[in-house]
Amino acid sequence: MNRDTFGDPANKGNVLTRQEAEGILNDWVLNDRLKLHMKQVAYLMRSWAKDKEQLNDADQWRWEMAGLLHDADWDQWPDQHCKKIIEELEKRKVDPEILRAIASHGPAHFGVEPETKMDKMLFAFDELSGLIHAYSLMRPNGYEGMDVKGVKKRLKEKSFAANVSRDEINDALSRAGMAIDDMIEFIIKRQGNVAS
Ligand SMILES: [Fe+2]
Repeated sequence: MNRDTFGDPANKGNVLTRQEAEGILNDWVLNDRLKLHMKQVAYLMRSWAKDKEQLNDADQWRWEMAGLLHDADWDQWPDQHCKKIIEELEKRKVDPEILRAIASHGPAHFGVEPETKMDKMLFAFDELSGLIHAYSLMRPNGYEGMDVKGVKKRLKEKSFAANVSRDEINDALSRAGMAIDDMIEFIIKRQGNVAS
């Protein structure tokens, strides 16, 4: 991305309303599967902020917003992925921490290292969430009764969700300091609650 600062420190704490954020999501993302993925990651981010970091409602929304918009420009402007949404959120004077989390959700692609806990969790949830969702779609009862063992088996099958990089998952988990079993369990307990 050729930059390492995002937003203006004076905008710290500034967020969009839920309506504004969902407006971007609905206007920019036409692909329903991608939209669902973004809502799932948003829900995981909010749940983590609430259950693990014990953050207040305003901070939970900051985490959720990063998840909700992290892939907003991927559908229509894949060659400007990350750049376009960050410029839009800078225009709207959004908190630099949210911009940074979005910018660092794929260090191998965008060249921005995840630094804060918010950055690291967004990167860690991103691909693992997609692989687990793909697994739910091939199970007769979706998320119901899904266990960690089943997900790990799919992870070992290279042909399953082949576009999900196992190396990136491992990299993200080690940066977040998370054990894979705990992360999978956190996701499978919650992700089924997100309706399309
Ligand atoms: Fe994503």
